[in-house]
Amino acid sequence: MVLQNAMHALNPVLRIGEQLAECWRLDALGRRESRNRASELLEQVGLGPEIRLRYPHELSGGMRQRVMIAMALALKPDLLILDEPTSALDVSIQAQIMNLLKNLCSEYGVSMLFITHDLALASDLCDRLAVLYAGQVREIGPAEKVLTAPNDPYTQALLNSIPRLRSNTRPTFLSGTPPDPSDPLLGCRFQPRCSVAFEPCQTHEPALVETKAGPSARCWQYQPLPDGVKQEANLSDSGNESESGKSSSVHPNSSRSETLPVADVHHNEDPLVEMKGVSFYYWVRRGFLGNAPVKALELVDLNLYRGESVAVVGESGSGKSTLARALLRLGTPVQGRIKFDNQDVTVKTEADLRYFRQRVQAVFQDPYASLSPYQQVYNLVEEPLVVQGVKSVKERQRRVKTALEKVKLEPTSEFAKLYPHVLSGGQRQRVSIARGMVLEPQLLVADEPVSMIDASSRAEILYLLRELQEDSDLTLLTITHDLASARYFADRIVVLYLGRVVEIGPASRVIDSPMHPYTRGLLAAVPEPDPANRHKMRSVIDGEPANALTVPSGCPFHVRCPEAIPGICDVTFPTKSNHGEGHDVACHLYPGEGGGKN
Ligand SMILES: Nc1ncnc2c1ncn2[C@@H]1O[C@H](COP(=O)(O)OP(=O)(O)OP(=O)(O)O)[C@@H](O)[C@H]1O
Ligand code: SF4
Ligand SMILES: [Mg+2]
Repeated sequence: MVLQNAMHALNPVLRIGEQLAECWRLDALGRRESRNRASELLEQVGLGPEIRLRYPHELSGGMRQRVMIAMALALKPDLLILDEPTSALDVSIQAQIMNLLKNLCSEYGVSMLFITHDLALASDLCDRLAVLYAGQVREIGPAEKVLTAPNDPYTQALLNSIPRLRSNTRPTFLSGTPPDPSDPLLGCRFQPRCSVAFEPCQTHEPALVETKAGPSARCWQYQPLPDGVKQEANLSDSGNESESGKSSSVHPNSSRSETLPVADVHHNEDPLVEMKGVSFYYWVRRGFLGNAPVKALELVDLNLYRGESVAVVGESGSGKSTLARALLRLGTPVQGRIKFDNQDVTVKTEADLRYFRQRVQAVFQDPYASLSPYQQVYNLVEEPLVVQGVKSVKERQRRVKTALEKVKLEPTSEFAKLYPHVLSGGQRQRVSIARGMVLEPQLLVADEPVSMIDASSRAEILYLLRELQEDSDLTLLTITHDLASARYFADRIVVLYLGRVVEIGPASRVIDSPMHPYTRGLLAAVPEPDPANRHKMRSVIDGEPANALTVPSGCPFHVRCPEAIPGICDVTFPTKSNHGEGHDVACHLYPGEGGGKN
């Protein structure tokens, strides 16, 4: 079995070779044989034999996950169970691991049970798909059928909620939460969230049945109703006839498939935020050498205009969160200047930043860790008002109510009384957003706001942020790993690599006509729920990002770039060239005068 978090699954005090040797301890192999076997296994998963001598903390996340796979293969299993093996990895490393798994499947004939919340990943690897909901299989069948002609309303809703990189259809979201497992529900377990439910769904539980066309499904639309049960249906009249004579292609929430409007942003006006030549370093101890800088952000120029939504993308360690820290003034840049509303906030003391702290708010990645479990929702949302010295209780009550209404936690009086542990991940993130919105900020910085919540709630939170941005004339800076989502909620996309902005432009330009080889690599690695991709090797960016402690010379991407020009890319950092409509790229393949306005 391969588990999700290799760092927790590996023993931190044993070298990799020793951990691998534990797998064949009962075989009583000699040292040399054990060493050879470990090297062979590591080679099988694309790692060199020298890895045997390293400790887990000396490996990157992708390498650790490969070691876990090597350990799982040690006893030549017939079945490999993979529980979210890539969800803690970057999209490029994820693509490398997926290619490795496809290879193991085809070369060694290992059967795999791949557990994932990501239908796109499943479609890349799996021959058959089983969709689970509230402890039951809802639908099972050939991957192609489940992905292209799903029967079950839950599968349909799940597929509709996935943002697609190469489609203009807006993802829709599934409202509500799964039922409480301790509270047995009468009837179909999906019924409270199903927009095509009809009377029998509330009282009788459907069985998982074979359907005439395609996968088996657990839905009354595909089986005869029990004797004496009313036939009236609350179904749309479009779609195919199914076993029970009901329409089968009704997609919950399917009316919401329009593309998102583009925000009316005035790039010729003064920007709300102006970052000019901003560098931000962390200092770490390096043994006898004293302290060394981790150059997390280097000479970043970025303007944010009023009312626009900007997404920052890049692999892990590229400096996304540091950009957010710099913007929030949680630390002082080593050089450069940040202006907010035409005031230089880099030089201000904490006491002078009061106005800035009200106008700029943040939403963090983990709604489980960022909310105190001991406070009710009302107090959590009220806290920023207390900190900012809003004295009137009535005023605070009014503003908390408005914030809860804005994030659609209604009825507000009921939600206000709840503690975070009874809320779903999506609802907790709404509370975090309400905390951010209660001071009516001009800029909201959201660092990976949906990466820790359930797949079906992600679109819901992204919509909410986008709606708030449009309705409240808010400027939104969202940090994300997910390029497909960025297409829908961002007006512009900024691509960071090792602390440098390598490409920036309108979202549609960056996604549909990427220029920088790194952006192209990132986009190629994004999985799509398309059965045509099954078993095909994805083109991936080789290697892993260098450490920000030792940034390569010249273009920092040159060590991984398939198009690097020897003698140029490894020597000089490319200047930024402008390609119209605010699309700038820093790469020697596009020489230019540099200095486009962003
Ligand atoms: N407190 C710190 N001390 C030392 N180095 C740090 C610190 N925080 C971040 N770094 C380093 O700075 C670089 C940028 O980190 P940052 O957290 O901004 O990346 P990121 O793009 O947000 O990554 P992720 O997607 O994993 O969140 C990385 O090399 C990281 O190891
Ligand atoms: S500057 Fe050179 S190494 Fe860097 S991305 Fe462009 S082609 Fe590749
Ligand atoms: Mg981060």
